[in-house]
Amino acid sequence: MNHSTVLVTGSTGRIGRAVVAELQQRGRAARGMDRVATPGLDDMVVGEITDAEAVRRAMEGIHAVVHLAATPDDDDFLTQLLPNNVVGVYHVFEAARLAGVKRLVLASSGQVVWWQRERGPFPIKADDPPTPRYWYAALKVMLEAAGRAYAEAHQMSVIAVRLGWCPRTRGQVAEIAAADWARDVYLSPGDAGRFFACAVEAPADISFAVVYATSKPAQTLRYDMTPAKELLGYEARDTWPQGTELVTG
Ligand SMILES: NC(=O)c1ccc[n+]([C@@H]2O[C@H](COP(=O)([O-])OP(=O)(O)OC[C@H]3O[C@@H](n4cnc5c(N)ncnc54)[C@H](O)[C@@H]3O)[C@@H](O)[C@H]2O)c1
Repeated sequence: MNHSTVLVTGSTGRIGRAVVAELQQRGRAARGMDRVATPGLDDMVVGEITDAEAVRRAMEGIHAVVHLAATPDDDDFLTQLLPNNVVGVYHVFEAARLAGVKRLVLASSGQVVWWQRERGPFPIKADDPPTPRYWYAALKVMLEAAGRAYAEAHQMSVIAVRLGWCPRTRGQVAEIAAADWARDVYLSPGDAGRFFACAVEAPADISFAVVYATSKPAQTLRYDMTPAKELLGYEARDTWPQGTELVTG
């Protein structure tokens, strides 16, 4: 796809910083949007995705969006999940439609298939029925469904990504170290950046796709990684614990 500037929402977060760094390394212009300014990124809209006007400003002149800004796990529904993971999603989709965005890449989660992750069968495919863990994951199912609707109704190319576990804190690194399944779905910051760059650059004729993104499994292949490779050309480079030294929070 021929892209100009890529808008990265949630650009200051764990994955957002990795995506911005990878895009910059590839010589692609990136604009950030976050409630906190992103270090090293001049083109930045500091604001809330719950603010329709701020999202509209961020979207000006944009052809591809990586939408990461969200409450990144279960939290209070009414004060956190509802504004950030429902209302903000609506504003991002609508601003993207009005700006004529061609490619929308959405951060979904492996928590969408949580209960199958507990009991198999493996590898879990993108079209296996969702088994969401709880409200956060149920809203990621909604995000994927809204992506499908916009792909069909507005001819937008939409890629929903069920992300593995990219730790935000040293505490999460310790949790991953202690669980077999978590080491299998670990996603290093470097692989996360490369994955999203592949998704931005993937062929324009993808109408809608759901794919998984992880690093190489430590032991068992839990998610079917074939669509990410065939559609987007993504192949993981890292395996647990490579990249954990970058997690300092
Ligand atoms: N890290 C993981 O393991 C993981 C796994 C699955 C899915 N995800 C998804 O990936 C995305 C990024 O996750 P992360 O781990 O980088 O989280 P993070 O908390 O490190 O980053 C999220 C960023 O979004 C920003 N943000 C949150 N609400 C906002 C709002 N209303 N307006 C503007 N900015 C807002 C925050 O300031 C933060 O910088 C999220 O959508 C999350 O649900 C992450």
